[in-house]
Amino acid sequence: MKSDIGMIGLAVMGENLALNMERNGFRVSVYNRAEGAEVHVVKNFIEGRGANKNFQGFTDLKAFADSLEKPRKIMMMIRAGKAVDMVIQSLLPYLEAGDIIIDGGNSNWEDSQRRTALLSENNIHFVGAGISGGEEGALNGPSIMPGGDIEAWTHIAPIFTKIAAKAEDGTPCCNWIGTGGAGHFVKMVHNGIEYGDMQLISEVYGIMKNQGSFTNEEMSQVFRQWNKGKLNSYLIEITSAILAHRTEQGAYLIDLILDKAGQKGTGKWSVINSLEYGSPLNLIATAVYERSLSSRKELRIQASKAFPRPLTLTTEKETLVAQLEACLYASKLVSYAQGFALMKEASEQNQWNLNLSAIAKVWRGGCIIRSAFLNEIAQAYKSSPTLPHLLLHPYFQKEITALLPAWKQVVADATLGGVPAQAFSTALHYFYSLTTENLPANMIQAQRDYFGAHTFERIDQPAGVFFHEDWTGKGGNTSSTTYNV
Ligand code: 6PG
Repeated sequence: MKSDIGMIGLAVMGENLALNMERNGFRVSVYNRAEGAEVHVVKNFIEGRGANKNFQGFTDLKAFADSLEKPRKIMMMIRAGKAVDMVIQSLLPYLEAGDIIIDGGNSNWEDSQRRTALLSENNIHFVGAGISGGEEGALNGPSIMPGGDIEAWTHIAPIFTKIAAKAEDGTPCCNWIGTGGAGHFVKMVHNGIEYGDMQLISEVYGIMKNQGSFTNEEMSQVFRQWNKGKLNSYLIEITSAILAHRTEQGAYLIDLILDKAGQKGTGKWSVINSLEYGSPLNLIATAVYERSLSSRKELRIQASKAFPRPLTLTTEKETLVAQLEACLYASKLVSYAQGFALMKEASEQNQWNLNLSAIAKVWRGGCIIRSAFLNEIAQAYKSSPTLPHLLLHPYFQKEITALLPAWKQVVADATLGGVPAQAFSTALHYFYSLTTENLPANMIQAQRDYFGAHTFERIDQPAGVFFHEDWTGKGGNTSSTTYNV
């Protein structure tokens, strides 16, 4: 009997997704190359976790392709980058018009955009699907963000919506995102937001630990409490568990983990794209930079000796907890607002027609950033699909206004106390810039015109009319062209 879908790549994500599909009633063919250390991967799976289930295992691509129901649906869960192109090329001889290739890895969205266009020339439908939720999510229900060739959607929707996580209201956390690389773009922004959330939580941890002298148990308790309120989310939940986790010897493991944060690149991609699209992503950029600085441990040790400072307890614990909750929530709002603004901008430029409300809904379950307040974001974009900025929605406007005093206090105290709180601070100052009618950017325009004749618009003249001033009396009338990046 032919299989409903094929899975290429049996590393942990591929294996777990295949098991998830089979558990949900689909027949799955699995393929892994049989080279080097991977020689027994398929056999081990078929005889191990896949035993006595609806799986067929292959190490030969033709036999694998022949085992699939048409149009063939082939999902790749392999390392992003060149390997994806190589597998696609080696698959093509065994495929027919109408077949579907799905890339479920963390691929760069521009690669997915290119692959969708390239494969459509061969009448092969390509889908770049962002998948979030880690190993556990892959097995029990991830959040899935498919984009690419819309022709593929009717064929894969029954499988994807079945295996996806379900939000509290029962809606599958999977929805068609848009054409080309839209799915992977949205997954990239998800990961950027994930970086931001993690940085914010680590700042809370740093302030509580260093400025508030909280014990690990106390901090665990605080996060457990917060998880019952507006901050309810997966990352808050696991932070509480991490803080209370002990080794077999009884030590808190968190205290033994080296403070050098790793990264695989999706956060950085988000920031690069924000620069390309001119849509500020300050908080995520700070999160990426803080990971980079954290990894320079030797330099930090040297610098900490060159500039020693005492850490001071400035606020009593109960007040600090309440202030931090507000500060974390407000900064998170800024971060999500920035992420959604970037998606809005990219959507307009690429004609993706992204449904921001639907995206917020897809993130409500299964993924790493799943949280209660995505319901509010979904609601905001549903009621106002053309909302120019998330913080301008009346609900969030009210929330931010109420959070502002505690948010300012935390940033001020951390600044005076010498405790790093870059993400809190950048969120606050972004908010200040965003809400300032007259920024001092007129000075930048004057300087650009002074030294480079780059021209400026005037507030007393119609918009779009550009002027050049002979600032020194020695310049000419020639102005350089105006450009906007
Ligand atoms: C997810 C995650 C996942 C990502 C890890 C590690 O949505 O399941 O985003 O895709 O690989 O979070 O990312 P970093 O190594 O860059 O922290």
